[in-house]
Amino acid sequence: MLPPHVSVVERTMDNTTRPEPDKADFPSNAPIVEQAAFLLEYAVLAPSSHNSQPWLFAVADDEIRVYADESRQLTVADPDGRELYLSVGCALENLVIAAKQFGLGVTVTYASETENRRADDATTRHVATVRLEPDTPAKTDQDAALFDAITERRTNHHPFQATSVPEPILERFEDDATTAGIGLELVTDTIRKEEIAALQTQADERQFADPEYRAELGYWIGSGALGASWLAARIGQLAVRHLDLGDREGRKNSTLVTSAPVIAALTATSDDLETQLDVGRVFERLALTATSEGLAVHPMSQILEVDALRADLAALLELEESTPMHLFRLGYADPDTTRTPRRPLEDVTT
Ligand SMILES: Cc1cc2nc3c(=O)[nH]c(=O)nc-3n(C[C@H](O)[C@H](O)[C@H](O)COP(=O)(O)O)c2cc1C
Repeated sequence: MLPPHVSVVERTMDNTTRPEPDKADFPSNAPIVEQAAFLLEYAVLAPSSHNSQPWLFAVADDEIRVYADESRQLTVADPDGRELYLSVGCALENLVIAAKQFGLGVTVTYASETENRRADDATTRHVATVRLEPDTPAKTDQDAALFDAITERRTNHHPFQATSVPEPILERFEDDATTAGIGLELVTDTIRKEEIAALQTQADERQFADPEYRAELGYWIGSGALGASWLAARIGQLAVRHLDLGDREGRKNSTLVTSAPVIAALTATSDDLETQLDVGRVFERLALTATSEGLAVHPMSQILEVDALRADLAALLELEESTPMHLFRLGYADPDTTRTPRRPLEDVTT
């Protein structure tokens, strides 16, 4: 099920190799509008579901307006747009961390529901405004480490080693989440990990049995967004479109779950747009902290994409008031050297 306005070939062309910004290039003596534009190079390195990069930015003077590009929504896997807004939240957090690193004060304001539709464009939604001030906020070593991790972070798809994650690091994750009003459940016991692995298998089976799901995944693989060469990507697209891979995929994914020392779930008491942005911001902060500590992170969204299984996960985690928003593995693993491509900045600025 392709979005109607764009062909596979057009999408294939719009991902380039991943840019590596150099902090030495920050235009410290230039007007603030140029400094703001430079920050976008860091925003776009954020993770996003299927590397869909569903964000747009508009820079004017000391303001960066952040938009969600709903034409890039995974309408089958993510019909409510939760993953889309989480992804935009990840990019927003990169902006905030990078601004601080370059001595800029930052105020983030979420756009209200009434003002966030642009009259001329039904799929572009204004979600937040980042206002910058040249006020040199105090920076800690931890801030610098988070910034450095923006260019280092990768999603790691390898099996994880059995080594446990040190308690102080897990406590830091919990503190960061709690400060933002978001819950964090950390599953380390074998029994519950196996239960989650079983949910993962069911999710893969159900999703791959759905031709529309396979077509959507194939479309994004075929676009090159997930980093394969054009030809390999195209072959991948055909395979996903025509075969039911659920059984094989499910077995692979459930082993990934049980191999990880920690399965983490970010949770929230509401599931509205602002909360989704907040969860994305917390996840990105956590992923950058993990990267700076040599830890691997791997989001696994399939369980949350099937309503009944999301409810099963909530029950398994004994959540009463809150709901699981994002699920991922945490642990140590061989580095994943794959560099997923990014759209050029011209394509994500309006
Ligand atoms: C909301 C969200 C959901 C994601 N879900 C999955 C997933 O289910 N499986 C997976 O392998 N990666 C998942 N990812 C990771 C993306 O595929 C990855 O961020 C993207 O391909 C870019 O690669 P990078 O993270 O290495 O920069 C998710 C990322 C986000 C932000």
